Amino acid sequence: MKIVVIQGPNLNMLGVREQNIYGPMKLEEIHAQMKDVASQNGVEIEFFQSNLEGEIVDKIQECYGEAQGIIINAAAYTHTSIAIRDAISAVSIPTIEVHISNVYRREEFRQKNLIAPVCASSVIGFGPFGYHLAMMGMLQIMNEIKAAQEAQAQAQKAQA
Ligand code: DQA
Repeated sequence: MKIVVIQGPNLNMLGVREQNIYGPMKLEEIHAQMKDVASQNGVEIEFFQSNLEGEIVDKIQECYGEAQGIIINAAAYTHTSIAIRDAISAVSIPTIEVHISNVYRREEFRQKNLIAPVCASSVIGFGPFGYHLAMMGMLQIMNEIKAAQEAQAQAQKAQA
């Protein structure tokens, strides 16, 4: 099982940008914690950050047939990108979106979310801890998929 973590524009600036909103933690530190959880649970994990919409679309497409789960913070593209939304929808891989800040308590332009309707779930406003919650959610989804696959295999065996 493989999870791909996709980080959108300006998230490489965590620890520097607006610490009053996003906190002091750097992206590398968040990823190190996620990596620990992944290895404790025997799951492969890959990290990707880009400031470019098309590169994020390409990465989502690359996940097709390669990853069983996507955790994405599309950052500002959350509010504008039909292309990222369509890519998530196209690959049909369980996806959890994360927002560090509570976007619903911020500017009006952040209230519009084009990504959430094509995601399994959204984790919003927990600070960097939201990525940990998303990992927990994704592991749960993966366990459910595994259990369903095993049940199907058992049923096929019983029929043969
Ligand atoms: C963000 C919220 C977005 O509105 C913003 O553009 C970001 C970060 C968050 O994690 O809280 O860059 O996605």
